[in-house]
Amino acid sequence: MELNIKEQLEQIRATAKDRLAQIGSSEELENLKVKLLGKKGELTNVLSQMGKLPPDMRPAVGQAANEVRAFIEERIKTAKQQLEERELLRKLENEKLDVTLPGKAHRAGKKHPCSVVLDEVKDAFISMGFTVASGPEVEYDYYNFEALNIPKYHPARDTQDTFYFTDDILLRTQTSSVQIRTMEKIKPPIRVIAPGRVYRIDEVDATHSPIFHQIEGLVVDKGITMSHLKGSLDIIAKKLFGENIKTRIRPDYFPFTEPSAEISISCFKCGGEGCKFCKGEGWIEIGGAGMVNPKVLELLGIDTNEYSGFAFGMGLERLVLRRYNIDDIRMLFENDVRFLESL
Ligand code: PHE
Repeated sequence: MELNIKEQLEQIRATAKDRLAQIGSSEELENLKVKLLGKKGELTNVLSQMGKLPPDMRPAVGQAANEVRAFIEERIKTAKQQLEERELLRKLENEKLDVTLPGKAHRAGKKHPCSVVLDEVKDAFISMGFTVASGPEVEYDYYNFEALNIPKYHPARDTQDTFYFTDDILLRTQTSSVQIRTMEKIKPPIRVIAPGRVYRIDEVDATHSPIFHQIEGLVVDKGITMSHLKGSLDIIAKKLFGENIKTRIRPDYFPFTEPSAEISISCFKCGGEGCKFCKGEGWIEIGGAGMVNPKVLELLGIDTNEYSGFAFGMGLERLVLRRYNIDDIRMLFENDVRFLESL
C-alpha cells in the first residue's frame, strides 16, 4: 500500500514534467495546474488514500507528497515565466515597425516667383539704407495724377488708361502716388522704395495684364544728382542679375521728373549682342526714372534750393519673367500649381 502510493506520487511527478513541457498557453497551464494540484486534482486524489495507511508510515508518505507538490509548483512557476516571455516576444514581433517603409509625402508650399524677386529687390535696397513704404491701391486722383504734375486733360493720362470709381477716386495706375504720400509724411533726407499693385485698363495677353506690380524708388537729399540714380540702378541690376549686367538710361518723358529717363539693363542672355530674348536689341527696358521735378518738391514744401531728388519706377513682372525665362505674363497670375511647382 505504502509503495503503491509512493509509486503513484512518482508517476504524477514524472508525467507532470512531460505535460508541462508541452504547454502552449497560459490558459492550458492554468488548467493543468488545477488538474494536478486542485481540490479534485490528481495529487489530492492520491493523498486521500493516506487514511488507509498505518499511522507510522503516514509522515514519510506525507513528506514525499509535499516534495512532489513543491516540485510541481516550481515547474509550473518556471513554465509560467517561459510562457510570459514567449508571449511578450510574440507581441513585440507583431507590433514591429518597419522603419524602411517610405513615409507619407508632405507637399510643402513655396514662395511665388513674384515674391522671390520682390524680396531680393527689397533686400538689395534695404542694404543701401532704403526703407519700405506703402500706400493705398484705391487712391485719390490727387495722389495718382494731380500732385505728380499730371492735371486733368494732361496727355500723359492717356498712356495710363484708368479704372475710375468716381471723378476723384480711382485704382492707382502707378506707385508714384506713394512718392507724394511719403513726402507729405517725412522730411528729407528721404530714401524709400514702395512696391505694390497697380491697375490699368488693358486687354490680357502674353505681355499685358490689367493688374501688375511696380517698385517705386524715391531719394530726396542735399546734392542728389542723376549719377546717384544711375549708380543705385547699377547696384540693383548687378545684385539681381549678376556682375556683368550693365544699365542704360535714355531720355524719356514723365511730368513728375525732369529730366526723365527710360531704364534698361543689358540682356543677360546674350550679354548685349542681341538675341531672340531681347528681340535683337541687346537691352531690356525695365522702367522709368528721373530727377524729381522741382514743381513736385515745391508743392510738398521742400526747398529746391537746398534739396533735390531722384525717382524711379520698375515693373516687377518684367524682372520676374526675365529671371525665370517665362514668356507669358499670364503664367504669373493664373496660379496653376503645376506651373508654379516646376519653377
Ligand atoms: N510711374 C512711371 C510709370 O508708371 C514710372 C516712373 C516712376 C517714372 C518714377 C519716373 C519716376 O510709367
